[in-house]
Amino acid sequence: MRQSPPPRTYRVKSFGCQMNVYDGERMAELLAERGMSAAPDGEDADLVVLNTCHIREKAAEKVYSDIGRLRREDGSSPLIAVAGCVAQAEGDEIMSRAPAVSMVVGPQAYHRLPEMLEKASKGERATDTDMPADAKFAALPARRKTGPTAFLTVQEGCDKFCTYCVVPYTRGAEISRPYSDLVAEAQRLVEAGAREITLLGQNVNAWTGDDDKGRAIGLDGLIKELAKLPELQRIRYTTSHPNDMTDGLIAAHGEVDKLMPYLHLPVQSGSDRVLKAMNRSHTADSYLRLLERVRAARPDIALSGDFIVGFPGETDAEFEETLSMVDAVGYAAAFSFKYSPRPGTPAATMDDQIALAVMDERLQRLQAALNRDQLAFNKASLGKVCKVLVERKGKYPGQWLGKSPWLQSVHFEGEAAIGDIVTVELAEAGPNSLSGRLLAPAPA
Ligand code: 5AD
Ligand code: SF4
Repeated sequence: MRQSPPPRTYRVKSFGCQMNVYDGERMAELLAERGMSAAPDGEDADLVVLNTCHIREKAAEKVYSDIGRLRREDGSSPLIAVAGCVAQAEGDEIMSRAPAVSMVVGPQAYHRLPEMLEKASKGERATDTDMPADAKFAALPARRKTGPTAFLTVQEGCDKFCTYCVVPYTRGAEISRPYSDLVAEAQRLVEAGAREITLLGQNVNAWTGDDDKGRAIGLDGLIKELAKLPELQRIRYTTSHPNDMTDGLIAAHGEVDKLMPYLHLPVQSGSDRVLKAMNRSHTADSYLRLLERVRAARPDIALSGDFIVGFPGETDAEFEETLSMVDAVGYAAAFSFKYSPRPGTPAATMDDQIALAVMDERLQRLQAALNRDQLAFNKASLGKVCKVLVERKGKYPGQWLGKSPWLQSVHFEGEAAIGDIVTVELAEAGPNSLSGRLLAPAPA
């Protein structure tokens, strides 16, 4: 077992969902607090954290090949920590198959990374995939750095057990972070420059808590409280489950100006038989009626969804029902995937697994429909005058890139700075972005 000097630089590589991005940022903060610094781009780091995702295809193989690629020309490797959902699901196997890995740390245990690092520097390997309820956040340092947009994890875990999904096994049961912690973390983010906060959770709309008067509130209550922070201009949340869309949350879309007109609400399939086999506990019709209510509260809302094609037993006719669902909704954006059997999930051992060629063909047809609708949504925005939050410089000199309220990427030219909220007229639309004309600079 090798001994190594304490690492001075780190690189955290996050894969997968926004929750992983958030976790990656928090791990970086932990390491920075211990006096380490981020390795400059293009330079080797003393410690590499691979913050992995297990949701689809070949997750573990990818980790092993990433580990292999970290080997330097002289045959040495940096200290390697494998974090995230692959660590949680396959930690022991990683330890036995990949001797270059010193640390395996699950998504609920990464606050203990510094202690593990101390052991690793002495040549001891360490695994921590405990799932203590709620200990992690309290152990993390206060947040001091952010760009104009920030993520804030408010809820973790999932009790829904969709039959295709590993999340309930890798992220554990649903827990909500306490209200006062969230308000404090949001305040610090805003003080550090955040103008937009996206509230994150595997089932973010299942968040519940007690406000400072001890009243039980849901996500809508939290959103209303955060909307009181004067410098915070925009609030978003993701990902939601249809069954947790409460009346209050739907109404909030019409009541809270700072809550952006965008809702990501996965449906997965348009077939009731498939939805039942997926254990989604909603039907195509109940989902469509829910969206009608959301649209009644906020008529201009942009809707987005997740879809799986080729769930075991999905027939051609059932797939057509998914296409009909897409036609009925008119999504502004969407994510679509081929079904991938996940070890340990009920669907992985169901009969009638669908051939890859069939899934490929269905995915292509679905994506063609979704792309058509995304372009149509963008074209329908032409001529609109809207606020754009400037996130970064564009490709060309004098060009800026930001987001519209409907989460479209918008580029424009003119006088602006990162973090400004400027007024732009949307002038040209492509499938993935729009260009705008700057009408008014940000107020001083
Ligand atoms: N195969 C394919 N897609 C999946 N998703 C979750 N599990 C699987 C799987 N086994 C998709 C769902 C979910 C999104 C985050 O990933 O659409 O909403
Ligand atoms: Fe997975 Fe379903 Fe839970 Fe979403 S709701 S994380 S798809 S089990």
